[in-house]
Amino acid sequence: MPKISARSIAAPASPIRRLYPLAVEAKKKGKKVYHLNIGQPDIPTPEPFLRGIREAKVEVLDYAPSPGLPEAIQAVQAYYAELGFDLSPQEILITIGGSEAITFSLMVTCDPGDQVLIPEPFYPNYLGYARLSNVEIIPLTTYRAEGFHLPPRREIEAHLTPRTRAILLSNPGNPTGVVYTEPELDMLVDLALRHDLFLIVDEVYREFVYEGKHKSILSYPEAADRVILVDSISKRLSACGARVGMLISRNKEVMAAAQKCATIRLSAPTFEQLGLAAFMADPHHREIIARMIEEYRVRRDVFCEELGKIPGVTFRKPEGAFYVMFGLPVQDSEDFIRWMLTDFPGKETVMFAPGAGFYATPGKGQDEVRGAYVLKVEDLRRACAVLAEGLVLYNEALAKTRG
Ligand SMILES: Cc1ncc(COP(=O)(O)O)c(C=O)c1O
Repeated sequence: MPKISARSIAAPASPIRRLYPLAVEAKKKGKKVYHLNIGQPDIPTPEPFLRGIREAKVEVLDYAPSPGLPEAIQAVQAYYAELGFDLSPQEILITIGGSEAITFSLMVTCDPGDQVLIPEPFYPNYLGYARLSNVEIIPLTTYRAEGFHLPPRREIEAHLTPRTRAILLSNPGNPTGVVYTEPELDMLVDLALRHDLFLIVDEVYREFVYEGKHKSILSYPEAADRVILVDSISKRLSACGARVGMLISRNKEVMAAAQKCATIRLSAPTFEQLGLAAFMADPHHREIIARMIEEYRVRRDVFCEELGKIPGVTFRKPEGAFYVMFGLPVQDSEDFIRWMLTDFPGKETVMFAPGAGFYATPGKGQDEVRGAYVLKVEDLRRACAVLAEGLVLYNEALAKTRG
């Protein structure tokens, strides 16, 4: 029997989806499961986007150009122009989701054995893609009590080695909800310049900011040749299934290499690129995004208010994205999540993503979970009530088994 590659074995299964079969079983038994485990927004995809797809005049569904459909590239240019960034079409590559922009960024900046520094906890697929491309992740631990902001510069520098090629981070952060401050970004840019590193910044949650101000990494012209921006319409347009993202860089060599990667995978989805073009052509597109962000602000406030009432739950109110990474009064949060799906009595239960899967350092995040506030406020309130009851019953059940 030919063997399976070591790298595919080393790639971690997504902690967000791993416990999904238990949720399916619970539902088969008639339970309602509040899914706070996955960042799948429930807000309807904007009508102009869907109309753009319905009304697309396509006779032959042929390959789109590898860099993206001209209409989609123009739409991305228009979006960035609204943010105050002037991009040429050559600085934009349409990718198959932000996910492909992440893989291309790693492919373009790293050879096998090279290292990328990532603040942890981080979006777990960073580790998955790194393992698949034989890139080593160097985790830089950040802490709940500090709102997951960055440690001092000397600590970051202590993690760099001659094999470090890039710093990768999401801003706003998944799973932390951190929005990095201007001094933090200044420091990262300075580190990249001084140590000759690429800065791969994933801004897919750019619009989801409730506290402070988000500064895009594109705001640093002095680092233009170090910066690779990962972006996506999945969250912003509530269109995760569209699979349209983008890689942006002002570094010509980076773009040439990324465009070459893009020719290998041929093209990104045609209809959804047309949907993006139609969305941006709609005069109300900004209002549609703003309305959605307001809805998330209310959800964040309600979710944090309700979490704050539960004894033993610890967190700092996140500044952005749509996640809270919080501590539970349990030793093993994954065991608790399993128990909630298999043993919690009653007609409803709640599901979170276990915290440990967001860390590369073994042993970290054992008492943490990530909650995604992607449900309506009444469901968030109900989910928190179920969580509170679950914690009491779980700890009682544990105490009993321990005698
Ligand atoms: C930080 C971050 N980057 C990238 C992605 C993937 O985005 P896409 O759906 O565009 O592939 C996600 C999805 O959850 C994410 O949270």
